[in-house]
Amino acid sequence: MNTVYLDGQFVDAAEARISPLDRGFLFADGVYEVVPVFNGVPFRIEEHLQRLERSMRELQIDNPHPREQWRALCGEIVSRNGGGNVSIYVQVTRGTAAKRDHVFPVPAVPPTVFMSASPLSLSPLHNPDSAVGAKALTREDNRWDRCDIKSVALLPNILFRQMAQVVGAAEVILTRNGCVTEGSSTNVFVVKNGRIATPPISNRILAGVTRNLTVEICRQHGLPIEEREVTKAELEAADELWITSSTKDVLPIVALEGRAVGGGRPGPVWKELAGYFLAYKRKICNLG
Ligand code: PDD
Repeated sequence: MNTVYLDGQFVDAAEARISPLDRGFLFADGVYEVVPVFNGVPFRIEEHLQRLERSMRELQIDNPHPREQWRALCGEIVSRNGGGNVSIYVQVTRGTAAKRDHVFPVPAVPPTVFMSASPLSLSPLHNPDSAVGAKALTREDNRWDRCDIKSVALLPNILFRQMAQVVGAAEVILTRNGCVTEGSSTNVFVVKNGRIATPPISNRILAGVTRNLTVEICRQHGLPIEEREVTKAELEAADELWITSSTKDVLPIVALEGRAVGGGRPGPVWKELAGYFLAYKRKICNLG
């Protein structure tokens, strides 16, 4: 059974119902999180919950649960779906008003909370020696200027992702005014002459939990990393390109717009980083 959580109850996904007047449905008026779970252990859950709380605050959605309740709900959705390796999806919308109206409901209505857990396959980082990497495209970023909010309004992101899918690529790397922002659902790292760079946290990108962890791990192990603007020219001339997300870990991009990146294979800096990242995951999640 695929058990989901909806507004206080755990039910079979096939039985879960929301109103068409829910503002998430009408306006994409809501936020979300994706929390990876390995071996039954939610990975970096505090960072994800902190970002969820921030997204709600930025959109003035009342947070329906204190942190410990969120933590408990995440634990329960995982155990009710058999534990193991899953990704938890959490969505909070502004709720269901009596009629469609752009203005926030007065008096306020309770937010709608939906959670699910789906199987998550381990990323190529778990087998660095046999990793082949993925392809990516690059396009101009046409999104709004609050990409720091993890909103469910994802039309540009899904259109980019579909654009990649039809040509067998994993991601579209976005640039704005000649500088890299992020991927449609990932953050971006470039490596040149052994030096790593990733765009700084701003309103133009999501502060990725995996991005931040990657920066942290690089610093811990003395890999030279800078958080700074990365130009489109640097993207195109990189020795290595990586994309990061909670479901992909750190994934090497080996072709950009049909041209090989570096040697067209996952590079040595990625391999070194992959070892450190994997060791960290193993320790935190008691992986064998
Ligand atoms: N996406 N940038 C965007 C636009 C994203 O949607 C995501 C995550 C990231 C990476 O963030 P994190 O490392 O915290 O997962 C960056 C999730 C996985 C999704 O939409 O499914």
